Amino acid sequence: MFTSGAKHSARLQVYRNKHQSIKSPKRGICFATMTGPSLLDIAIKNVHTTSLGVLETCGNMAQNLGVHRLSLSRPPTALEAIPLDGKVCVVTGGNAGIGLATAEALANRGAHVVLACRSKARGMAAAQALEQRCAPMPGCGTPRVEFMEVDLASLTSVRSFCKAFNARNLPLHLLVANGGVMSPATRSQTEDGLETQFQVNFLSHWLMVHLLLAEQRERRSRQWRKSQQQQQQQKQEQLRQEAENRQIEQQQEQAQQQQQQQELRRQ
Ligand SMILES: NC(=O)c1ccc[n+]([C@@H]2O[C@H](COP(=O)([O-])OP(=O)(O)OC[C@H]3O[C@@H](n4cnc5c(N)ncnc54)[C@H](OP(=O)(O)O)[C@@H]3O)[C@@H](O)[C@H]2O)c1
Repeated sequence: MFTSGAKHSARLQVYRNKHQSIKSPKRGICFATMTGPSLLDIAIKNVHTTSLGVLETCGNMAQNLGVHRLSLSRPPTALEAIPLDGKVCVVTGGNAGIGLATAEALANRGAHVVLACRSKARGMAAAQALEQRCAPMPGCGTPRVEFMEVDLASLTSVRSFCKAFNARNLPLHLLVANGGVMSPATRSQTEDGLETQFQVNFLSHWLMVHLLLAEQRERRSRQWRKSQQQQQQQKQEQLRQEAENRQIEQQQEQAQQQQQQQELRRQ
């Protein structure tokens, strides 16, 4: 399940424009929620219900569900309180703003949250702060929050991040593609010669999704092949055992028959 911070944020901006009193996400508000399921509702629900391979932004899902309007933060619904214990969630740009608020919401549900950030100092500080201040919701376990380095303005860095993440053999349940820059004042290029906002907000996430998803799919198919092999071996072992049992039974029957014949002859 992959979510798009940009669409989420666009809705937040719409909300901010309408309600000037809303606090900045940096100053404590979790995230704008929509009437009906919020983007996080949908993401969390899908962590539990979809198999890997769904590549759809939350914004699209929200549209599919006909969810458009925004509402104030409200007490968590039953859906939001679904425990995410053992679920691995990567949040790009998770050290600030909406990414940080999202990471906190996931941590409060007991998830293993990976803050994928460009600055080691800011990322580690955010991970430590989140672990200290998070308050697990009822029924949710203790979260784990950690930092991993990625600079979305560098395709090499994105590849290194994916390689490092894949090497850890972790499952991936949720990727929040949040990190980004918003309309820089001047046009700039990344080290890859691409326009910065295009690469940071879109292209790097696209590459990340493909590299992470490819590994997760490969791992799943390896697991599937392994379980098929094990099933076959178990079946063969069962057949061998059954054949052995039949042979023993036959031998016992033959021995009984021989005994009966001998007794008959004696009589
Ligand atoms: N807030 C809005 O009203 C709004 C509206 C429309 C779209 N959006 C989009 O929603 C997302 C989050 O918005 P926000 O308000 O939370 O933004 P924010 O407070 O500026 O946070 C952006 C996050 O992205 C990270 N980031 C920026 N460039 C990066 C790079 N090259 N590599 C890795 N991480 C990088 C930042 O890291 P550093 O801390 O290291 O800079 C920060 O953690 C962004 O994609 C933004 O474009 C927001």
